[in-house]
Amino acid sequence: MATKETVLHVTEINDPALAHEIWEAYKGSFADTDKMCAQDQICYDEKTMTQALSDPDYQKFVLKVEDHVVGICILTNNLMKARIAYCNDRFLRRKFPKYVEEGRFWYVTAICVLPEAQQKGFGVELLRSVCQFIFDTKSMVSYDYSFNKNPWLTGLIQKVGASLGWNVVEIPLDKQCYTSLYYSHNGLPS
Ligand SMILES: CC(C)(COP(=O)(O)OP(=O)(O)OC[C@H]1O[C@@H](n2cnc3c(N)ncnc32)[C@H](O)[C@@H]1OP(=O)(O)O)[C@@H](O)C(=O)NCCC(=O)NCCS
Repeated sequence: MATKETVLHVTEINDPALAHEIWEAYKGSFADTDKMCAQDQICYDEKTMTQALSDPDYQKFVLKVEDHVVGICILTNNLMKARIAYCNDRFLRRKFPKYVEEGRFWYVTAICVLPEAQQKGFGVELLRSVCQFIFDTKSMVSYDYSFNKNPWLTGLIQKVGASLGWNVVEIPLDKQCYTSLYYSHNGLPS
């Protein structure tokens, strides 16, 4: 039987069971990031995630396979609320004043697919729905991600946009560099 995936686009999720399932999918999706990511990729705890899910200032895209939540994308055009994902709202306002003022600038605070469901094409379906929303609302979108983990992410989003007939142009914003130093006479750090 063919796998059936669906993407649910809603502005409010108030069902505690669904909110908990989304939280579990979010937490599980980033379980492998401790091996690769200097920045903690988990910016919500269950309480703040549940608040965001019930908050209409965030758009929610919930990816389900066979009626189980396997992925989520949440984004907001309230840049004070986007700060939870460590972005600088003042920078974004200065850089894109018109889009921000008009509520057409969205920041993705979470996008993920459970590890066991990754690389099966489900992420593309999730991105397709989000790209469609950005297109329909004549908006633009911004996000941050781990380059160690997902160096291909922007290329993938551009490919999804191209498959829908749109030229998706990147304006790079910054690169936050995480590094470390040690003194060689102390031996190689382990
Ligand atoms: C980003 C993410 C949502 C993609 O979801 P996914 O379900 O794995 O994506 P898909 O299976 O639809 O793959 C889409 C494309 O990306 C490519 N891809 C996916 N994972 C890849 C990997 N680890 N390395 C290289 N390419 C990869 C696939 O090959 C595919 O390309 P194709 O269409 O040319 O074949 C998923 O990897 C994820 O949840 N990552 C962890 C969370 C995260 O880091 N989120 C981003 C920052 S918040």
